[in-house]
Amino acid sequence: MRQRQRILTGDRPTGPLHLGHWFGSLANRVALQQAGNDLIVVVADYQVITDRDTPGSVRERSLGLVLDYLSCGLDPVGTTVFAHSAVPALHQLLLPFLSLVSTGELDRNPTVKAEVQAAGRRSVSGLMLTYPVHQAADILFCKADLVPVGRDQLPHLELTRTIARRFNERYGEVFPLPTGLLGEAPSLAGLDGRKMSKSLGNAIALSDDADTVAAKIRSARTDGERRISYEPGRRPAVANLLTIAGLCAGVEPAVLAEQIADGGGQGLKRVATEAVNAFLQPLRERRAGFSPAEARQLLERGAGRANELAHDTLRQVRAAMGM
Ligand code: TRP
Repeated sequence: MRQRQRILTGDRPTGPLHLGHWFGSLANRVALQQAGNDLIVVVADYQVITDRDTPGSVRERSLGLVLDYLSCGLDPVGTTVFAHSAVPALHQLLLPFLSLVSTGELDRNPTVKAEVQAAGRRSVSGLMLTYPVHQAADILFCKADLVPVGRDQLPHLELTRTIARRFNERYGEVFPLPTGLLGEAPSLAGLDGRKMSKSLGNAIALSDDADTVAAKIRSARTDGERRISYEPGRRPAVANLLTIAGLCAGVEPAVLAEQIADGGGQGLKRVATEAVNAFLQPLRERRAGFSPAEARQLLERGAGRANELAHDTLRQVRAAMGM
């Protein structure tokens, strides 16, 4: 393994990043970068059209995503961040990779199944079925060592390893096998108890201002019991707010519950609002220091480097395949 590890991960530009992203993956990205590793982030704009017909204003959302990254403390100089659509050679890896997986394997992917269901669609597009292979190209084009992700992405990572292994067996050693890295909270629930998600409207965005956070938490469900306790099985709504507050404050949810005790649902919401706002404040301050023009520049520089890496890998792939 290289001494300086290569970290690759990414997001779809479908809306603002939220607390689930932070505790699932972003915190690890920042820590790994600060430890001196090489961080590459893909703005997966071609992945937007997996579960929707219209991509929306992808360009703007991509810039918003980059501003989200910068607000998290990613290095505005040392981070390689690029959009899928700016790196054509990456997508060419999809052809040999598709030949290495069976339709049965694609059909069984639990994350794809869940996304098809969430999108409420009667038919599944070819891209929806194959996007995990596309994601393997995202990861393998730069020969990543580590992939910080939320739990829902692990099936894609397993498939990526399978593809790398099969390619190497069939054509000779080209790809290292990447390892997935789960965050502190690999799957965080949103304010309605379902998985925190951009599309479910139950998320606290990293870019939310203090009033928005307060309003969202005010309207979250609790239960009728006066005394606050941390019992995820019996009191999921209360436990969920305690989890969010605890993660933001760096305190165990059970300890928070004891502190709130007879403060009831109102006390819980006050503590949660304060914890989330205190946590987000430094992000808000950092974000205010960057402009969309700087985000655009970062993407341009990132695309330059990503294109070099992708061409290099594609050249090796063609050579290995005897083309
Ligand atoms: N599928 C990921 C998501 O929806 C985004 C993504 C695209 C990604 N390419 C990636 C994640 C490569 C990790 C590695 O969040």
